Amino acid sequence: MQREINGTGIRVTAIGLGAMPLSIQGRPDENQAFEVIQTFLEGGGDFIDTANVYCLDDSDIGHNERLIARALDRFGKRDEVVVATKGGLRRPQGHWVTNGDPAFLQKSCEQSLRDLKAERIVLYQLHAIDSNVGLMPSLEMLIRLREEGKIAHIGLSNVDLDSLRTALTHTPIVSVQNRCNPFEQRDFQNGLIDYCGANGITYIPHSPVGGHTGHARLQQSALFGRLAEKYEASRYCIALAWFLAKGRHVLPIPGASRPASIADSLRALTLSLDEDDVRAIDRLSESP
Ligand SMILES: NC(=O)c1ccc[n+]([C@@H]2O[C@H](COP(=O)([O-])OP(=O)(O)OC[C@H]3O[C@@H](n4cnc5c(N)ncnc54)[C@H](OP(=O)(O)O)[C@@H]3O)[C@@H](O)[C@H]2O)c1
Repeated sequence: MQREINGTGIRVTAIGLGAMPLSIQGRPDENQAFEVIQTFLEGGGDFIDTANVYCLDDSDIGHNERLIARALDRFGKRDEVVVATKGGLRRPQGHWVTNGDPAFLQKSCEQSLRDLKAERIVLYQLHAIDSNVGLMPSLEMLIRLREEGKIAHIGLSNVDLDSLRTALTHTPIVSVQNRCNPFEQRDFQNGLIDYCGANGITYIPHSPVGGHTGHARLQQSALFGRLAEKYEASRYCIALAWFLAKGRHVLPIPGASRPASIADSLRALTLSLDEDDVRAIDRLSESP
């Protein structure tokens, strides 16, 4: 199953790898990190989501991008894989702090190019809007980086519908990456995902199985227990198959720090949920 990153002509397998767990607190050793990436590539995956701030703190910026670049070289897949990265955050003492200052974004993008060992970043996403800067100054810098050929396409992350609409009046936006999973369906409820579908924008749900710690909720859900039994698949696969049923513009990026996790997530590509079961998961967000 494939997804086109709308309007770009780029086609990728419909489950991407969220590479964050390979580089933040609690990260695996390097051998295991390489095994995760290798398992993903051997399973047919070709879209990896990263960010310069997937690292321990400000002294470690670029850890995830360098890891991915080395893995792609080692496995000979540099030209076959789309790596999407982001700029616009810092990691002082391991915290997540927005910085959408244009000069900072420019430096971050140039560093990402070096860390990824790339001539051009295929998809560069504004990690979040900095309320001290506002959307437009950051967006204008991304447009400039695109004009300079340093990035090919612009995406937005952690963005609401109003900001997306504003951005679109200035430039094409090819993707939106927001937090969304069966327990947090805000973007289905507020119309953002439908809007993306209607306007040729790829929607990339981050934390699609519940997030770094929130994925434990899948184990507590009676509905996911029942569906896992019915389809003889893991609860994670059920969650990812639910996303795949939501439209050809939806591209989930499950995280993994263990090879077994990403191997399992890729099985969702061959799992088709009955409509009733899709609707039952839709209703999860209505429960208190
Ligand atoms: N734009 C943003 O602001 C933002 C924020 C957060 C995340 N993201 C992106 O979204 C990606 C995914 O988010 P996330 O990693 O926080 O949360 P997630 O995808 O919901 O996954 C959380 C954890 O669930 C486990 N898991 C996932 N699939 C599994 C499976 N099939 N079987 C068993 N365990 C499974 C993994 O555990 P193990 O570690 O044990 O393998 C993983 O670390 C990130 O990697 C990052 O690329 C973006």
